Amino acid sequence: MANNIYLIGFMGVGKSAVARELHKKLDLPLIEMDQEIVDRQGMEISEIFSRHGEAFFRDLESALLSEIANGHDAIVSCGGGAVLREENVSAMQNSGMVVLLTAEPETILERVKGFSHRPLLEGKMNVDAIRELMAQRKPAYENACQYFVSTDGKQPAEIADGIVVLRDLRGI
Ligand code: S3P
Repeated sequence: MANNIYLIGFMGVGKSAVARELHKKLDLPLIEMDQEIVDRQGMEISEIFSRHGEAFFRDLESALLSEIANGHDAIVSCGGGAVLREENVSAMQNSGMVVLLTAEPETILERVKGFSHRPLLEGKMNVDAIRELMAQRKPAYENACQYFVSTDGKQPAEIADGIVVLRDLRGI
C-alpha cells in the first residue's frame, strides 16, 4: 500500500492548486486524477460524460483510485465526486491521509465560473445550485475526511504548509 496525501472536496475548492504547492514542498509525485483519466481516454471529462455517461466515468475513477492506493507514495488531487463510492473511501483511508478542502459557495462560484469543463455544473453556475449540490455531498465528504481545511481567503501555499505539518504529526 502507498502512503498518499489525498485532497478531496467540492469542485473549485482548490485541490489542484494546493496539490501543486505540496508537490513543490515534498519530494513526492503529483497525480491529478481528472487529468490522468483525460490522458488515458484521450477525451475531455465533459465528453466522457456525454458519450458514455456518469457511471462509466465513476468506474474509471474507482479503477484509477485502486491503482493509486496500491502504487507508490504520491500527492493525489481527487475529482470532486471520488468520495461518492464507499470502496473509494476505503481505498483512500487505507493508503494515506485524506484531507478535505472546503470553501463557501460564493468562493466556489468565483473559482469555477470562467470554466466549462465540469459537466455537473453546466447550467448551474450560480450560488444556489452550488449550495444545493454541496449540501447533497456534505455527508460523503465528512464520512471520507480525516482532516479538513477551510480555504476561504487563504493562499494555496499557506494551506499546503498546514498539510505538511499535519503529515509530520501523523508520522510521530
Ligand atoms: C466532479 C468533479 C470534477 C470531475 C467531474 C465530476 C464531481 O473534478 O471529476 O467533473 O462529481 O464533483 P474537480 O473537482 O477536479 O473539478
